[in-house]
Amino acid sequence: MEHKIAVIPGDGIGPEIIREARKVLDKICKKYNHTFIYEEILLGGASIDVYGVPLTEEAIKKAKSANAVLMGSIGGDASVSPWYKLEPSKRPEAGLLGIRKELNLFANLRPAYLYQELKESCPLRDEVIGEGFDMIIVRELTGGLYFGKRETLEENGIKTAIDTLSYNDKEIRRIAVKAFEIARKRKKNVISVDKANVLDSSRLWRSVVDEVAGEYPDVTLTHMLVDNCAMQLVRDPGQFDVILTENMFGDILSDEASMITGSIGMLPSASLNETKFGLYEPSHGSAPNIAGQNKANPIATILSAAMMLRYSFDMDEEAEDVERAIQKILADGYRTEDIMSEGCVPVGTEEMGNLIAQEI
Ligand code: IPM
Ligand code: MG
Repeated sequence: MEHKIAVIPGDGIGPEIIREARKVLDKICKKYNHTFIYEEILLGGASIDVYGVPLTEEAIKKAKSANAVLMGSIGGDASVSPWYKLEPSKRPEAGLLGIRKELNLFANLRPAYLYQELKESCPLRDEVIGEGFDMIIVRELTGGLYFGKRETLEENGIKTAIDTLSYNDKEIRRIAVKAFEIARKRKKNVISVDKANVLDSSRLWRSVVDEVAGEYPDVTLTHMLVDNCAMQLVRDPGQFDVILTENMFGDILSDEASMITGSIGMLPSASLNETKFGLYEPSHGSAPNIAGQNKANPIATILSAAMMLRYSFDMDEEAEDVERAIQKILADGYRTEDIMSEGCVPVGTEEMGNLIAQEI
């Protein structure tokens, strides 16, 4: 099969992790006789450096004309990078939010799975880890606080900053449907996370999710408050299957979930619209402190490429092949710095990519 992939290397460690993911995809093409045509797009800081803005019309057009988008990471170190001297709407992150909105990528899937091989890197005690965990966070990605009206005003010498958190029932329904559909293919257990004891948007969230649950009698639904969820993730992570939540809560909880897998360098993500189209990126950021040093863990990006094979190209076998190769390389004891433990073999970004590609 032939597919067009828009590739966004981005900033920081982005280009080096994307390079390794492409290596793995090229190996898949060779083995399964597919053709992937890559087209590079500048986004974030890389786009600011060339065009003065983090996202151009041209970039949006290129992304829309592809079958899927594979992305590295966006952003720099705000304390030193000149990108952060620009007004907020011109900074790297605005480009990422812009492309999510333009492509209508409302469903962000972030799986958090504990590899038995990485148990040593998990900061939780053995009795808390138990049999391990395997959850997926379904985060709403184009609404809520991220996209509500915001402004900063000054009146009578008092500065006030306002961000608006709004959701309508349609936005809630479509993400809830995604979560229930995913749950059907897993352990049929949805935990919907909100702050319904305080927020109106959460109360609407709860009632719409209850309605959707009525259409999925085979799936169990539980509501959980976000503060409790943050606690439960480190108290008993094994209880979660599908976590359904809004944009901001999902941002925070997914970092927490990734940390208990041992390293944020292991977590992929998929951002989908109503069709098969998606943008695939690691859940982690651009780690400017280690950029260009061959230290970054490329696994989250390679796993994101595997999600692309599965969700956008219906290539389940190929996706499993990539995931199996990663598992094998971890079982063989190879580790990047972030997941290193005693007795393992330290490798850099490039070597990790080579090992995984060779294993396919
Ligand atoms: C993420 C990131 C982004 C977000 C930032 C870079 C805007 O943290 O993808 O989780 O908050 O969505
Ligand atoms: Mg985040």
